[in-house]
Amino acid sequence: MERYAHITGWGMAVPERVMTNEEIAKLVDTSDGWIQERTGIRERRIAGPKETTASLAIEAAQAALEVADLSPELIDLIIVATSTPEHLFPATASLVQDALGADRAGAFDLLAACSGFIYGLSMASHSIQCGAVNNVLVIGSETLSRVVNWQDRGTCILFGDGAGAFVLQSSEMPGGVMSSLLRSDGSGGSSLIIPAGGSRLPATFETVRDNQHAIQMDGKEVYRFATRVMASAAREVVQCAGLTLNDINLVIPHQANRRIIESAARSLNMPEDKFMINLERYGNTSAASIPIAACEAVAQGRLRPNDNIVLVGFGGGLTWGAAMVKWDVPFRPEVSPWHRIRRQTVYQLAKVRSALKRGVRRVEGALYRTRPIPEEKQPPKK
Ligand code: ACO
Repeated sequence: MERYAHITGWGMAVPERVMTNEEIAKLVDTSDGWIQERTGIRERRIAGPKETTASLAIEAAQAALEVADLSPELIDLIIVATSTPEHLFPATASLVQDALGADRAGAFDLLAACSGFIYGLSMASHSIQCGAVNNVLVIGSETLSRVVNWQDRGTCILFGDGAGAFVLQSSEMPGGVMSSLLRSDGSGGSSLIIPAGGSRLPATFETVRDNQHAIQMDGKEVYRFATRVMASAAREVVQCAGLTLNDINLVIPHQANRRIIESAARSLNMPEDKFMINLERYGNTSAASIPIAACEAVAQGRLRPNDNIVLVGFGGGLTWGAAMVKWDVPFRPEVSPWHRIRRQTVYQLAKVRSALKRGVRRVEGALYRTRPIPEEKQPPKK
């Protein structure tokens, strides 16, 4: 029996703090007029001191589980697409797994910059289709404000923070993620890069002084690349799913720049109102932008049951990708309050269990250190 991967839950989380173009104009030589004209961005969200990539991811994931009415213990796999992980390791996905109480789930981070969510969606749907897993959480989460050089007007105007999540579930009913495409061209890696902090350039006084832990971008190069690949990737996944562009109800593109999206619409010969755009309020949230836009499309009634949609992204790597999805899961009636209470209890218990496990580890460590060395393993006495 053939298996399909359906999107059954979606959720988003953005910080409360709004940063307008006027505020950025106080930091660098720019203006609201220039930013709006060249990018379409009006404002973005900026994480507060207590907000991190993991905390936003957890909030978005909980919202998605709510829509799917799925208990966290039933999740098999958690993929967090991010370029701004909580740490180099452990993976942010493991922190999310612990916080959700998803104790049967594997978890890993995926780095494909702004294409990360499409990469995660493709991995998740293939894992479901081949029968390895049944329930997967795919999250795109970013705190790009932490890796932006706030003195570089070429980049600091573009980025924002946020998270979006999808729940994917297996079903024998045809539909869900019908095709996907992933591509990379590493020869363009230096066009969009955080040079330091990895094994090539570990942190030193000089790397910090020279702002090498912040995003550096050749804007024009990325712009040219994006306009080249978006239309062709969208066309290919639609064809691969056995459809034509006329069958597509909505395109949800990566939200980097309104002009890039308009150019893709022209290349595809599709009206601009078939493209979901919300970058004016969030800027470029990298791996989070597509799921955030999808959530808002549902909320605004622009994404309806049985719609055929294309998700398409591009970003650092260089990477790009697209997916054709049949959004065919009927919108659920109200989730039972009992299920909601049960999930909240699982989240509270997850906190307690995590603290207990850390405590047990500390005790085990202390016991192990104080255990006397057996006679035969002791060094010979002189
Ligand atoms: N405010 C005012 N002037 C500016 C600003 C600014 N913020 N930034 C640049 N300028 C100036 C430049 O200095 C230049 O002046 P000059 O002609 O005197 O030299 C002029 O404006 C034009 O600069 P360009 O770089 O040619 O501006 P462009 O129209 O290309 O817009 C932008 C720049 C918005 C960055 C555009 O190139 C772009 O959007 N590129 C794609 C970026 C992108 O999508 N990145 C995300 C990828 S996803 C990921 O993986 C993270």
